[in-house]
Amino acid sequence: MIKKRRKWISFGMAVLALLLLIQSPVHALSSFRPTDEPINFWQPGNLSNQSGQYLFGWFLRQVPDEVTPTDEDKTIDVVQSNLTPLDPTVLEKYVDALPIPAVIKSKGINRLSPYYEVTMTQFTQKLHRDLNPTTVWGYNGTYPGPTFEVMRGRPIWVKWINKLPTTHLLPIDPTIHGAQPPNPAVRTVVHLHGGNVPPQSDGFPEDWFTPGSSDTDFYPNQQQAATLWYHDHALGITRLNVYAGLEGFYLLRDTHENLLRLPRGKYEIPMVIQDRSFNTDGSLFYPDTGSGTHPIWVPEFFGDTIVVNGKIWPFLEVEPRKYRFRLLNGSNSRFYNLKLASGQPFYQIGTDGGLLPSPVQVNEILLAPAERADVVVDFSEHAGETILLTNDARTPFPDGDLPDPQTTGQIVQFKVTLPFSRRHPGLLPPRLGPFKKFNERQAIKVRDQSLNEVLIGDEPEILLLNGLKWSDPIEDNPRLGTVEIWRLINLTGDTHPIHLHLVQFQILDRQPFDVAKYKATGELVFTGPAVPPAANEAGWKDTVRANTDEVTRIIMRFADFAGEYVWHCHILEHEDNEMMRPYKVVP
Ligand code: C2O
Ligand code: CU
Ligand code: CU
Repeated sequence: MIKKRRKWISFGMAVLALLLLIQSPVHALSSFRPTDEPINFWQPGNLSNQSGQYLFGWFLRQVPDEVTPTDEDKTIDVVQSNLTPLDPTVLEKYVDALPIPAVIKSKGINRLSPYYEVTMTQFTQKLHRDLNPTTVWGYNGTYPGPTFEVMRGRPIWVKWINKLPTTHLLPIDPTIHGAQPPNPAVRTVVHLHGGNVPPQSDGFPEDWFTPGSSDTDFYPNQQQAATLWYHDHALGITRLNVYAGLEGFYLLRDTHENLLRLPRGKYEIPMVIQDRSFNTDGSLFYPDTGSGTHPIWVPEFFGDTIVVNGKIWPFLEVEPRKYRFRLLNGSNSRFYNLKLASGQPFYQIGTDGGLLPSPVQVNEILLAPAERADVVVDFSEHAGETILLTNDARTPFPDGDLPDPQTTGQIVQFKVTLPFSRRHPGLLPPRLGPFKKFNERQAIKVRDQSLNEVLIGDEPEILLLNGLKWSDPIEDNPRLGTVEIWRLINLTGDTHPIHLHLVQFQILDRQPFDVAKYKATGELVFTGPAVPPAANEAGWKDTVRANTDEVTRIIMRFADFAGEYVWHCHILEHEDNEMMRPYKVVP
């Protein structure tokens, strides 16, 4: 223990020394005197404590005065420095079949409900025919993890067991909240994304557990059928744990949905789309460069290779008939704007939290990290064809670069080569979900929540919600059972996918506003009309794109559990670096 601590102290000293060396004197000073510019806080008020000072504070408290750094201590251990990045164009595309994650079986019954066990381990997996096996993390030995198939009204228990090594697969930044020593490097806690679950089982980011420990969660499954997913949520390292492979599907079904005769069985395919980068030896690459005062945190990560269900650019052989795809953007930061190269439409039948009122025909689907689209694609007119699913979303979204059409512009290839084996399920039902739109007058409170980026010089330092950090006192205390409207006021240049735990919400509208005026005076002056959500967003959502220069209004009821939950940006690099806040539902 003492040894470990010493190691961390010298590591801390090394980081501090390096930071002091690379910071200009102005920046070094500003880190001790929060009122100094050039730190820009895009949020009026509330900000006296939001400074680099906090980030240095840990080192200042932990490092005894008499310790002086030696030359040796000044180098940060750069984990991946001697590896060569893999050029993604050398990998032949569409040579591996799309894997379908196995459905997990329960181990028995616990207190009247099915009981499952899931073990997290490190292992190697072939992600492409021509690539060495990649060391990944996964649930029950697979990346992505097994799929849960559960029924509404039938709760389950899941024991999550951490048998990961004690050394992290990827470089940790010890200046990120929660990841500071002496917290151990490897920590996990599982969150059921989109789930309406009691607080003890929600995967609160501070409820992490270490290798050798486990945690048993209860999932009530009382909400309507939906494409949910589970993933890691440990404070300060979520981006690394998810990138390493800790995610999987959780398909909640119900009798209503079953009666709709949507494509099922082998005609229903979950697809988690992720971007990754690799080294030539097959290992995962994640940047170990820094931003602001953080030595190994990047404000966004964009991989150069597309991985679907754990395979690089896979193909799927299909019959000339309708298929149902559960699309999930499981990437850290990348948005996807999906199109079928055949020019044919998608019929979107569901959003994050369940079925849409009726199918919506769209030619493209925009998915931010964590968003899901439940779609039907009809291949019946395309026998013999090969159809690409393409992506043209800019990174960062919406004003960054277009994806390379040869790499990240391609996702998966459908080969309509299988013989027709079963009777066509006729037309899509014209009405899908029972869906009740909220009335704005149901809301008893409107909360304004700003999205902020803090720069040092021109480098991102942290991102905040409402000008507050994770550890600041809770300010949002909705009353159990009541309806609220939240106005997400985006003061940054990027779109942020904002996610609330516990609830499914509805999008009311998005409206442009005068950002400069708001930053100067705190006054909200709209500059254009409020635009209601597109038809394929007008369903149950748990993650919403809050666009730059817009106020996005969402409405939700805080039911059915009281206690502490979180809301955050689902760009995982943002979430890890302060763009996450606890909130508390009070009885
Ligand atoms: Cu998908 Cu709080 O996360
Ligand atoms: Cu969630
Ligand atoms: Cu964000």
